[in-house]
Amino acid sequence: MTEAPIDIPRAHFHDNRARRYDDTIRRVIPAYDSLHLMSGLLLKELLPADARLLVVGCGTGTEMAAFLADNPGWTAVGCDPSEAMLAVAAERLDEAGVGARAELHPCTVECLPAEATFDAATILLVMHFLPDDGAKQSLLTATAGRLKAAAPLILADMHGDPETEHHRRLLAAWAGWQARHGIPPEEIEKGLAHVHRDIHRVPLERMIALLESAGFTDIEHFFHALIFGGWTARRAAGEGA
Ligand SMILES: C[S@@+](CC[C@H](N)C(=O)[O-])C[C@H]1O[C@@H](n2cnc3c(N)ncnc32)[C@H](O)[C@@H]1O
Repeated sequence: MTEAPIDIPRAHFHDNRARRYDDTIRRVIPAYDSLHLMSGLLLKELLPADARLLVVGCGTGTEMAAFLADNPGWTAVGCDPSEAMLAVAAERLDEAGVGARAELHPCTVECLPAEATFDAATILLVMHFLPDDGAKQSLLTATAGRLKAAAPLILADMHGDPETEHHRRLLAAWAGWQARHGIPPEEIEKGLAHVHRDIHRVPLERMIALLESAGFTDIEHFFHALIFGGWTARRAAGEGA
């Protein structure tokens, strides 16, 4: 099924959590703005001036607005199942003066037309919410299926092997990082419980295997901040449009 894009000017509903997201994310995710900036700069190196971008899990639209503001010839389609996040994204895109070049869909990538029409895709801080029971694979495969042959993907995710001492150390350092940025101890504890309960981290080798199975190649690491990593990849040539 293809979900219709939401009407950007008519999106008024705001959930408090979506608003809070923008207030706290930079104090919770190390180098959040740098990750977005580096992703945009890498895309700029890789894409033509009239590129069409797919932003999977666009959330409150921060990366989408920045990509479009920096590249006046680009257009972008964002998808996210959270209408509250999309309502904030719609406002942000308008405020950045790029709303006319943006389309927002209240759904997962699987709901978008299954046509290889995009020049690039990003999946930033999204896939770790999905269990490794076929859901991660489905997200990557559906994204690959909407990319032109050899089109780049930028993926960033919380990752690692939760069973290792190294990962436990990184998580402890992450808690310390949040404390240094003013997150109250009870919120840090709640966040860690949420990670243990709901965030499906996989080791690097598994991340690469998932990307390869979805038809991506040329997988390169470009970002690392404690338990957060970022990779570039390309849809294998010969597949897609
Ligand atoms: C941590 S936010 C990241 C948002 C944005 N990419 C950023 O960097 O700020 C994760 C977003 O992924 C969305 N999400 C969760 N599951 C998804 C899925 N299967 N497909 C697309 N988006 C999804 C959530 O609704 C949420 O808005």
